[in-house]
Amino acid sequence: MKINAYAKINATLDICGVREDGFHSLRSVMLPVSLHDEIVIEKSESLSFQCNIKELCTEDNLCLRAARLFFESTGIDGAVAIELEKNIPFPAGLGGGSADAAAVLKGVNTLFDKPLDDTGLLTLASKLGSDVSFCLYGSPALCEGRGELLTPIDGIPELYLVIAIGKARLSTPAVYRKYDEAGLEARNDSDRFLKAIESRDRDAIVASFGNAFEPVTDLLAPETMELRSRMISLGAQNARLSGSGPSVFGVLKSYEEARICAQQLEGMGYFAISCRTLDKTY
Ligand code: C5P
Repeated sequence: MKINAYAKINATLDICGVREDGFHSLRSVMLPVSLHDEIVIEKSESLSFQCNIKELCTEDNLCLRAARLFFESTGIDGAVAIELEKNIPFPAGLGGGSADAAAVLKGVNTLFDKPLDDTGLLTLASKLGSDVSFCLYGSPALCEGRGELLTPIDGIPELYLVIAIGKARLSTPAVYRKYDEAGLEARNDSDRFLKAIESRDRDAIVASFGNAFEPVTDLLAPETMELRSRMISLGAQNARLSGSGPSVFGVLKSYEEARICAQQLEGMGYFAISCRTLDKTY
């Protein structure tokens, strides 16, 4: 069977403190987007994994970890062959690995006659990574806790995006560490976003987007700041870091504007694509 694994953007990302387990308490509005990886998954004699990107073909790839976790926790004596066509840039803050893990969980559960219900799948998802639960859920949500506590959000208009990434690389744990060291005042973009949703004002919704990591990533990878300003000069209404970066997304008024913006950024040497937000991925 073939399954698409959709990327996410963080419309907002507020950090609310450090937990006892060392993870951070988040409040983040996440939106699924049309940019996706493609996964083919079939029953097989032994567990195997192939990918068009050789560096991802490792034993600890999230696709393999998701499949192993499914067989361990259900006690099913089975195996699958997984093929991944990677289109989502990585590591980028776009949830690509998490999306793949979520798609494998869905796929393997379907192939083996659905021994797990939605709650069972979400429990496994939360063990694989902070964003896997959201990717499995696949609709706009306020994500709290480590990112695994989901509250659905309705009423978000379809948004046209450009997503771009340059050469800078950022490590997620390092970005969180630098954020802690910086001692910044907490932001609350998520509540502004939720208020804007109530007012059904598209421009207010787009204006409420924010990411608490930006003051830190602007210093660690100035290219991400530059990319945000380039998007704004090219007509984006707002441009923000996604997750802990280094990808950046911009919101344009139409799909055509997003497409042109992506072309212009590509001309400047960035990897850039146009896409749109989705209401439901699965
Ligand atoms: O869960 P995930 O593998 O995506 O997390 C990667 C890293 O990001 C963690 O090891 C941790 O350093 C940081 N993180 C965090 N708090 C979160 C999510 C991630 O500190 N809520």
